[in-house]
Amino acid sequence: MDLFSEEVKLLTAGLAPAQALAALADRFPGKVIFSTSFGWEDQVISHMIFENNLAIKVFTLETGRLFPETYYTWNRTMERFGKPIYAYYPQNDLLEQMVSAKGPSSFYESVENRKECCYIRKIEPLKRALQGNDVWITGIRAEQSANRQFMENVEWDESNNMVKFHPIFDWTLEEVKGYIKQYNIPYNPLHDKGFPSIGCMPCTRAVAEGEDFRAGRWWWEDQSKKECGLHEVAKQD
Ligand code: ADX
Ligand code: SF4
Repeated sequence: MDLFSEEVKLLTAGLAPAQALAALADRFPGKVIFSTSFGWEDQVISHMIFENNLAIKVFTLETGRLFPETYYTWNRTMERFGKPIYAYYPQNDLLEQMVSAKGPSSFYESVENRKECCYIRKIEPLKRALQGNDVWITGIRAEQSANRQFMENVEWDESNNMVKFHPIFDWTLEEVKGYIKQYNIPYNPLHDKGFPSIGCMPCTRAVAEGEDFRAGRWWWEDQSKKECGLHEVAKQD
């Protein structure tokens, strides 16, 4: 049941992102959680949380298949802010079964296999991370894909039974980059090499100038299937 969406909408309406995060942390003590993949949107939000000492737990899903540049950025982020970033790993037994039966690159073979890998490496750990929380903060922006234009900055997440809040939903890429530059925040060096959106290494490639931000994610699949299930899109055309 959607308990909090309306309240979160009212609470955050008209507030700047950092103020909105502070208001949520006050209203839902110990129950607001932020997922970071160390992309530049997430670096902006981590800065807002850590610099303002907000009581929001920051976590990442360590799929085991991240880019070396992402681990580098993770390290630099912890050095810069001196705060914990909680890591959630896949369950050993599930991973061992899948890789033993299908090998380390089964995701290229079918959408079904790809979803199985995303489930084991991301979704199951995500569910553990979100357990017991009321509000899930993400770095999603409307501009990132055609699908995401249909989302709103406050959503009810039926499958996780909680509110999702995207504090920089309306920001342009230029605004994100401007913020990173203004506060000299460490960011993933892949962003300067044609990677606007960065996920797991085998499933992400660079995009050409003018291509969709997410064109380099699961590029071998049909456009309409390109969400991993972390963020189910409620409204699609
Ligand atoms: S995804 O669904 O395609 O993987 P995307 O890379 O666009 O998502 O990132 C959108 C938001 O999802 C990020 O801002 C972050 O909040 C969350 N996210 C994505 N990947 C991870 C990850 N590995 N660990 C934690 N959060 C993640
Ligand atoms: Fe597996 Fe690729 Fe999904 Fe990462 S993005 S969890 S490697 S299928």
